[in-house]
Amino acid sequence: MSAIPVKSSYAEPLPNVPLHRHICQQLQQHYQALRHQHMRDMFAEDPQRFERFSLQVGDLFLDYSKNRINSETMALLVKLAEEADITGWRDRMFGGEKINNTENRAVLHVALRNRSDRPVWVDGVDVMPDVRAVIDKMAAFAEQVREGAWLGYSGKRITDVVNIGIGGSDLGPQMVYQALKPYRHPDLKVHFISNVDGTHAEEALEALNPETTLFIISSKTFTTQETMTNAFFTRSWFLQHAQLECHIARHFVAVSTNRDAVVAFGIDAAQMFEFWDWVGGRYSLWSAIGLSIVLAIGHENFLALLQGAHDMDEHFQHAPLAQNMPVIMAMLGVWYNNFFGAESQVILPYDHYLRSLPMYLEQADMESNGKSVDRNGQVVDYATGAIVWGASGINGQHAFYQLIHQGTKLIPADFIVSMQSHSSLQSHHDILVANFLAQTEALMRGRTLEETQSSVTDQAYLAQKVFAGNHPSNALLVNQLTPHALGMLLAAYEHKIFVQGVIWNLNSFDQWGVELGKQLAKQILPELSLHDAVTSHDASTNGLINYYHRWRKAS
Ligand code: F6P
Repeated sequence: MSAIPVKSSYAEPLPNVPLHRHICQQLQQHYQALRHQHMRDMFAEDPQRFERFSLQVGDLFLDYSKNRINSETMALLVKLAEEADITGWRDRMFGGEKINNTENRAVLHVALRNRSDRPVWVDGVDVMPDVRAVIDKMAAFAEQVREGAWLGYSGKRITDVVNIGIGGSDLGPQMVYQALKPYRHPDLKVHFISNVDGTHAEEALEALNPETTLFIISSKTFTTQETMTNAFFTRSWFLQHAQLECHIARHFVAVSTNRDAVVAFGIDAAQMFEFWDWVGGRYSLWSAIGLSIVLAIGHENFLALLQGAHDMDEHFQHAPLAQNMPVIMAMLGVWYNNFFGAESQVILPYDHYLRSLPMYLEQADMESNGKSVDRNGQVVDYATGAIVWGASGINGQHAFYQLIHQGTKLIPADFIVSMQSHSSLQSHHDILVANFLAQTEALMRGRTLEETQSSVTDQAYLAQKVFAGNHPSNALLVNQLTPHALGMLLAAYEHKIFVQGVIWNLNSFDQWGVELGKQLAKQILPELSLHDAVTSHDASTNGLINYYHRWRKAS
C-alpha cells in the first residue's frame, strides 16, 4: 500500500486552503449566507450590476455579472488573492525565478511574447536575444516557404506542411491554425498528426505528395513515443519516394529543446528551431512550436498574436487585482470549486473557428492544476483543478445543455463569442449571438412554475418544464477573432490557471501524473509480441494482454 494517504473524495466544498484559513472561513460564512440567493433577485435589486461586474481589456470584454456573487463576494475573493500573494508569485514568474520547483525550472512563456525591450533573466542571462533570434529564424524560413523560394527535392514549391507532435506540441498550433483561418496563406495547407493509431498518419499521408510536403517534427523532449513513431514512419514514407537521404534536408525540420536527439534522427542542427526548458509544453505555442502557425498565417500575424498575449501579460502585471481579468476569472472558479463544490467548468465558444479551444484548455488547465499534492509535497485536503470540458456552444445546445440547465450538477460556464464574424452572413451571426444571449439569460433566470404555467400551451408535466436557473456563467466578448484578440484570450486563460494554482498552493508547471502510464506502456509493448501467455501483471491486465495476443496471432 502507498505510504501517502490519498484522499478518496474531494467532493466536499472545503474552504480549507491551509495558507489562507482565516479568509476562507469568512468566505465560507459568506457562502452560507449567499447560497440560497437567486441571481434574478440580485439583478432586480441592483440596476448597476452589469456595469459593476464587467470590464473591458483591449479586444476582450468580460461580463461576469451572471455569477452568484455580490460586491462582498468579490472583495473577499480579492482578499484571498492578496493573502495568497498572487502578486508576489506573479513577479517571481515574470522575474525568471524557478517556480517550477519539482523540475527546477523557470516558467517563462511570457518571455516568448515579450514585445517590449525589457530583458528577461534566467540564471543571470538575458534570454531575450535568443528568443528574438528564433523568431527571426522562423520568419525567414516561413517567408521562403510561403513565397515558394523553398523548394522540395524535385524543384516544386511546398504546398503542404505536416506538424507531427502531441499534447502541447500539437493542441496549441492546431487550435490557432483553425482559429485564424481567414489569415492563412491560400496555397499552403497545414495538417496535424498526433495519434499513434496508424490510421491517423496513413490517412494524413494518403492525400499528400512527398515532393511538395514539409514535415515539422515538434517535440520538446524529442523522445515522446507517439511523436517519434510517427516521425520515423513519415521519414521512411518520404524516403520510399525520394530515395536519397540527402533530400530529407528539404523536407524535414525539427522544433525541440533536445539538439542531440534531433541530430540523431537525421535532421541537421541548422534545421532545428530551438526552445528552452523554461517553456512548458502546454504553454509553448508562442515558441518555435508555433512554426506551423507562422507558416500558415505569416510572420506579421504571428507577431500580432504574440503582441495580444503580451498586452494581456501587461494587464495581468499592472492592473489592480479587483480589475484584473485573469484574476477575476480565476477567483470565480475558486468560488465555485471550493465553496459550491462544483466539479467542472464548461467552455462554450460561439465561434466556429474556436471549436478546438475547449480541447486546448483541457490540457492547459487540467495538466497544470489536476494535482492532489501541493508544491511542498503535502497531500491536499481541498479541491483543486476543475474538470474542464466543452464544445462549440451552438452544437452543445442540441446535445448536452439539458444537463447544464436541469441536471443536478452546478456547472459554471464560459461563453465566448465574437462580436464581428469573419463570415459575411450577418443574419447567421445574429442567430448565433441571439442564442448565446438566450442561453446565458436562461441559465441565470430560469423559469418559475408560474412563468411556465403562463407560457406553455400544454399544461401536462409542468414540473419537467420548470428551470431552476441560478446557473453561473461568464460572457467573454471578443471584438473580432484577430491574431491579436486570440493572443489576449489565450493569455487570459493561462494566467487564470496560474492564479488558481497559486491559490491551491500547487506547482502548475510540472506533470508527473502523465509518467506512470508512459512507463508501463514501454514495459507492456514487448509483451504484446510474446508467444507465451503473460502472467506478470494483475489478472485483468494479464487477461487483456492475452486476449490481444489471440487477436494478433489471428491477424
Ligand atoms: O505526456 C504529456 C506531455 O509531456 C505534455 O506535457 C507535452 O505537451 C506532451 O507530452 C508532448 O511532449 P513533447 O513535446 O516532449 O513531445
